[in-house]
Amino acid sequence: MIKIALLGCGTVGGGVYKLLQQNQELIRQKAGQELRIVKVLEKDRSKCAALGLPDAMIAESYQEILNDDEISIVAELMGGIEPACTMVLEAMQHGKHVVTANKDMIAERGRELFDTAQQNGVDFYFEASVAGGIPIIQPMKQSLAGNAIQQVLGILNGTTNYILTKMTTEGSDFSEVLAEAQRLGYAESDPTADVGGLDAARKLAILASIAFNSRVTFGDVYVEGITTINARDIKYAGELGYVVKLLAIADENEGGVLARVYPALLPADHPLAAVNDVFNAVFVRGDAVGDIMHYGRGAGEMPTASSVVGDIIDIGRNLSHHSSARIGCTCFASKPFRPISELKTQYYIRLTVVDRPGVLAGIAGVFGDCNVSLQTVMQKSATAADAELMVITHNTREADLQQALSILKDKEFVHSIDNFIRLEGIAPRQ
Ligand code: NDP
Ligand code: HSE
Repeated sequence: MIKIALLGCGTVGGGVYKLLQQNQELIRQKAGQELRIVKVLEKDRSKCAALGLPDAMIAESYQEILNDDEISIVAELMGGIEPACTMVLEAMQHGKHVVTANKDMIAERGRELFDTAQQNGVDFYFEASVAGGIPIIQPMKQSLAGNAIQQVLGILNGTTNYILTKMTTEGSDFSEVLAEAQRLGYAESDPTADVGGLDAARKLAILASIAFNSRVTFGDVYVEGITTINARDIKYAGELGYVVKLLAIADENEGGVLARVYPALLPADHPLAAVNDVFNAVFVRGDAVGDIMHYGRGAGEMPTASSVVGDIIDIGRNLSHHSSARIGCTCFASKPFRPISELKTQYYIRLTVVDRPGVLAGIAGVFGDCNVSLQTVMQKSATAADAELMVITHNTREADLQQALSILKDKEFVHSIDNFIRLEGIAPRQ
C-alpha cells in the first residue's frame, strides 16, 4: 500500500479524497498497489468532517506528516506560495514524492522546486496546475517529447472566457457581465488575478518552460487583462470575421522566447474560437505532429481532482517499478526573452476622428510613415461631425505600431484612440 498525505482539503483536496474512494479498486489495479490517504493537514476541520474523515486522519501539524516515514506521497492542495513552497521543499528533502495543483508556486519558484526534486531523487508532478482537468503537462513532457515545439496558444482562464463569451452573445459590457459572474459564483469576489490576466500568465509560464526547455517565470510573461475590452470592439470584431479571446501565447524565434497574455482577435473559424464559457483549451504546434488541441474543463472539484489523481497513480506506478524521478525538469537550456516591442503581428485599432475630407488620407499617411501597412478599414458614423474608424493592419512590428499611435493621438483630426487589439491565430501570408 502507498500512503498519501493531503495538504489542504478544500475544493480540490476534497475532490481528490472522493475520487480515490470512488474508483478505489480500479485505481489499485492501475497503480499496482492500493493508494490510500492516511493524513490530512487542513485549517478548517469542518471541511474534513463534511467528507466523513475520522479525527485520527487529521494532522495536528505539518511535522507529523513530514516525520512519518510511511507517507511516500504528499499532495499539496492548499494554494499560495508560502507556506506551501517550504512544505513541499521539506517533503522532497525527506524523500517524499510531491503532487501539486499550485500554479502560483511553480510559476515563481519552479527552479528551486525542480532542483530539490532532482537532488532528492523524487517525483514532482503538477498536471493540475495548468488547465485543471485537461491533460497537457504529461502529454508535452512525454507523448510530444520528440517534437521541437513551435508555439503554444491557449485559453487558460475560465472566468475571463466566460465573461468574453457572455459579452459576445449578449452584447453586454465588461462590468455588467463581471457583476453577474460574481453573483452566480463563477468569478471570485476579488477577480483581479483572473481579469487582469495574471492567472493565465502563471499557467503560461509553466507551459512555456516545458515547451521551450528553458525556465520562464511569471515575471517573464508580458500581461494585459480584459478590462479594456468593450462591447463595441467585440461587435466590430464580429463584423470583421473575428472573435475576442484572452489568449496565452508563447513562441520562439532566433531572438528568443516571447511569452504573453492579452485579449486578441482570433479568426472566427480558428478551433479556439469555438471554446466558450468556462472551458479551456491549449493549442500546440510541434514540428512533427503539426497542430493539436487539448480541450476541456480548466477548473472545478472533480476535473482538477482527475489530474491530481492521475499524477498520484503515475507516482504509484513508479514506486511499484522502482523507477521514480524518471521524468524531471526539462529546462536544460537558458534562452533569451524577446520584448513585446519586437512582436510582429496584425493589429486592430479603433479611433474616433473628425468626419471630413482628407482625414482618412492623413491617418493612412501616418501609418505609412511608420512602416505600418493597412489591410482593412471600416467606418461608422459616431456623431454628425465624427466617425469611428476601425483599422486592421498587415503584419507590423509592435514598436512601429506604437510609434504611429503616439503620432496619431496628437493630430487635430483624431479625437481619441479608443483601443488597439492584437490579432493571433492567422496563417502567415504566402
Ligand atoms: P481551497 O481554498 O478550496 O482549498 C485550500 C484549503 O487549504 C482550504 O481549506 C484552506 O483552509 C486550506 N489551507 C490553506 N493553507 C493552509 C495551511 N497553511 N494549513 C492547513 N490548511 C491550509 O482551494 P482550491 O482547492 O480551490 O485550490 C487548491 C489549489 O489548487 C490552489 O493552488 C489552486 O490554484 C489550485 N487549483 C484549483 C482549481 C479549482 O478549480 N479550484 C483548479 C486548478 C488548480 P482555509 O480555507 O481555512 O484557509
Ligand atoms: N480562476 C481560474 C479560472 C481557475 O477562472 O480559470 C483556477 O485555475
